[in-house]
Amino acid sequence: MPVTCVYGMQWGDEGKGRIVDLLAAKSDFVVRYQGGANAGHTVIVGEEKYVLHLLPSGAIQPSTTNVIGNGVVVDPWILMDEVDHLAGRGIDLTGRLLVSDRAHVVLPHHKTMDQALEALRGDEALGTTSRGIGPAYGDKFRRAGMRVADLLKPERYQELLEANTGAWNAILDKAGLEPIDIAAVIEETAAIGERIRPYAADATGVLIEAWKAGREILCEGAQGFGLDVDHGSYPFVTSSTTGPAGVPAGTGLPPQALGRVVGIVKAYTTRVGAGPFPTRDTGPAGQHLGEVGHEFGATTGRPRDCGWFDAVLGRRAAMTQGATAVALMKLDVLSGLDEIKLCIAYELDGKRVEAPPAWAGDWERCTPVYETHPGWSEDISGARRFEDLPAAAQVYVRRIQEVLEVPVEVISVGAERERFIPLEQGIPVSV
Ligand code: GDP
Ligand code: IMO
Ligand code: MG
Repeated sequence: MPVTCVYGMQWGDEGKGRIVDLLAAKSDFVVRYQGGANAGHTVIVGEEKYVLHLLPSGAIQPSTTNVIGNGVVVDPWILMDEVDHLAGRGIDLTGRLLVSDRAHVVLPHHKTMDQALEALRGDEALGTTSRGIGPAYGDKFRRAGMRVADLLKPERYQELLEANTGAWNAILDKAGLEPIDIAAVIEETAAIGERIRPYAADATGVLIEAWKAGREILCEGAQGFGLDVDHGSYPFVTSSTTGPAGVPAGTGLPPQALGRVVGIVKAYTTRVGAGPFPTRDTGPAGQHLGEVGHEFGATTGRPRDCGWFDAVLGRRAAMTQGATAVALMKLDVLSGLDEIKLCIAYELDGKRVEAPPAWAGDWERCTPVYETHPGWSEDISGARRFEDLPAAAQVYVRRIQEVLEVPVEVISVGAERERFIPLEQGIPVSV
C-alpha cells in the first residue's frame, strides 16, 4: 500500500491540517516526520475547533494511530498539554499515540536560545515562533542533542546536558542572559520523562511492519516548501526538510514506500515571520485576504502578510517534491475581489526569472510578472461540484492547475469538514 504525504507548497498555513483530517478518515496511521511545535494545524468539526502543534492532525479521527517520527523535535511539555487538552475534550489518545525514541527533545533552554539568537540578529531577525526549533535541530546536527531515549535514562542525563550546554552558555553570556541552570533543567525534565515513557517506541519498526502489512499510512508535513531549509528562502526558513523528501529520513520508511504526494496551496499566498514575499499586497486586496481569510498565526497569533498566488514558488514546490495531486484551499476567500492576480514569473534587474533566486536579498528584490483574471462576487462556500463554481472561478482554478502542471484533486471552499469539492480524476476538461 503506497504511503501518502501531505505537504505545504507555500510559506506554511496552507490548510494542511484540514486535508490531513479528511484523509485520516481512511488512514490507519498518521505520522509527523519533521518540525515541532512551531506548527499550528487547524481542524474544524462542526462547532469544535482544534489547533494541533505536535500531535498529527489525524488525532481527531478516532480510528487512527498517531505517530511522532524520529525527524520531529518534540517539546514534551507541549505534547503532554495537547494530549491532556484533547482528553478533556473527549479525545483519548491512550494506545493510539507513539513517539519515536529517536526523536530529539526540545528543552527549555532551546527556547531561551531561540529568543537570544533572534535578539542577537537585531534587524535581521527571522521572526521565529520562539519554539526552540533552530537550537534543537542545531544540537541534533552538531551531534549534541538529547533524544526521547535519553529522556528515559535519567542517569545519563546530567552528563549529556553538560556536554550539550557549554556552547550555548557562551552565546547566552554574549546576549547578556543568564547561563543554563543544569540542575533546574534536570529537575524539570525528570517528571516529563516519566509522562512520555508510555508513548515512547521504536516508531520506525512499527511503521515498517504496518507498511509491509498493507496498512494505510499518511504522513503530515509541517511548515511549507518556502520554509524548507534547503529549498526555501534561506536563512528565512525553518530548520527541517518540509516536503516528502523528509519522509524517509524522518520516519525510517523507505523512499519507495511513498506513492501519493498531495501538495497543499492556498488560492493566494500568506507568510508570517520575516523573509522575501514578492507577491505581498499591502493594499485593499491584501487587506481583504487577511480579513476574509482570518489570516492570523495558529501558533503565535501574529497577523500573516497576504498576497497573490506565486507560481514561481509553486512550480518548484511541485517539481522538486514530486506532487501527484494538489489541494487548492480557501478559494472562497477570493469571492468579492474585482480582479485576481496570479504571478507567473519574476523580474530581477530587468531579466525574467522563472525560479526562486538562491539569495534571499535577490528574492526580496524580485518584482512579480502578473496575469490578471476577472474575479467573482458569489459566495461559493456551498459549492460541492466544479460546475457549481462561477465561470471566473473555474477559469482561475484551471489556470492554477496549468501553471503547477499537477492535477487539482480537491478544492476547499470553507474551513468546515464538508466544505470541499472532490475532483479525484482532476478537473473535468469538458466543463
Ligand atoms: P496549516 O498550518 O497548513 O494546517 O494551516 P492553518 O491551520 O495554520 O491555517 C489554515 C486556516 O484556514 C485555518 O484557520 C483553517 O481553519 C482555515 N481554512 C482551511 N481551509 C479553508 C478554506 O477552504 N476556506 C476558509 N475560509 N478557511 C479555510
Ligand atoms: P505550519 O505547519 C507558518 C515560520 C516562522 C519563521 C520561520 C522560522 O502551521 O504551516 P521557526 O520557529 O520554525 O524557527 O521559525 O518559519 N514558521 C511558520 N510559518 N506556518 C508554520 O507552520 C510555521 N512554522 C514556522 O514564522 O518565519
Ligand atoms: Mg499553521
